[in-house]
This record gives sequence, C-alpha cells and structure tokens, in this order.
Amino acid sequence: MSLLRVVYYSRQRVGRSRETITDQLADILQASIANNRQHGITGAMILDHRWVVQVLEGRTSAVTTAYQRIACDARHSDIVLADQTEIDERRFPYWWMAGAAIEPDMDELVRRWCGDSGFDPSRMAPRRLVDLTEAVVTAYMERTPMPVMRRAGAPVQPQA
Ligand SMILES: Cc1cc2nc3c(=O)[nH]c(=O)nc-3n(C[C@H](O)[C@H](O)[C@H](O)COP(=O)(O)O)c2cc1C
Repeated sequence: MSLLRVVYYSRQRVGRSRETITDQLADILQASIANNRQHGITGAMILDHRWVVQVLEGRTSAVTTAYQRIACDARHSDIVLADQTEIDERRFPYWWMAGAAIEPDMDELVRRWCGDSGFDPSRMAPRRLVDLTEAVVTAYMERTPMPVMRRAGAPVQPQA
C-alpha cells in the first residue's frame, strides 16, 4: 500500500527559553504519540526558538487529517507545506513521533546541513529538511532520551 509523507515547517509559538521549549515538546509528543499510534502515523519533529519542522508518514487519509488538525494548533503559526510525496517505505518507522530541540551545542551539526547561514527551513529543500530532522533527532536522543519517547524492547513496525 502506498503511503503519504508530509513535510512542513512553521513558526513556533511555545516560547523561547530552553526549559519552556523542552516542556512544550514533551507535551506535544505525549498527545502525538497517543494519537499517531491509533492512526498508524509515524514521524519526527524538530524545533528551535523560532522554527518547527515536522515529518508525518502514514496512510493518506490519516496523514491529511492529522496535518489539518496540527495546522490549527496555536502553539505554532505560518505553516508552510514544504512537500507531500507518495512513498513506499517510511523514513521513521520506529517512532509514532520523535521530537528534538535544536540546542546550541548542535551548531556543528546544523552547519553541516544548513551552511553558515544557520537553521532556516524556508531556505532548505524538503529532502534536506527530512535529513536534518533525522540527524537532529538522532543526536538528541543519544544524549537526552525523553521518557515519553523511549520504547521497551524491539521497535514496533507500524502497519502501513
Ligand atoms: C508542532 C506540533 C506538532 C504536532 N504533532 C502532532 C502529531 O504528530 N499528532 C497529533 O495527533 N497531534 C500533534 N500535535 C497536537 C495537535 O495539534 C493537537 O493538539 C492534538 O492532536 C489534539 O489531541 P487530543 O484531541 O487527543 O488532545 C502537534 C502540535 C504541534 C504544535
């Protein structure tokens, strides 16, 4: 069965301090994981003090419905749909939703993907947005495992 991948970016409205961003991210992830699990959606999101990038993957109807709901959330604004593509395989099959804050010491990683101008999703190709999201989430989880994202045992392969 073919799947849909949606990539969007937006302006985050959760706050600027590191603590607020981390707290809000945990809240968003908690609701996201519960809902996405029910609807077979997987994906990942990253945010810094200005931007959000999220990748949603799953059945077309499920992803479209979730995207429309997420787009109305006041915790972000100015949502831009960067890409929607039919895919054969999920890029994030292990996470109902993974999330990470881009932290100051990720400068080098961000520079690798974004160059010297820094993290600005509006200037990045969708494929690079997905690559950056994966890289940041991976780096973040290696050192800051969020209890809400932790999985016991083998990763679950969600149904297509
Ligand atoms: C940046 C961002 C990303 C979100 N991602 C998801 C998501 O992947 N899945 C989801 O169900 N809700 C997501 N939400 C939350 C939804 O906007 C909404 O609050 C939630 O789905 C409502 O769930 P509830 O009716 O179970 O409380 C996100 C919110 C924000 C601000």
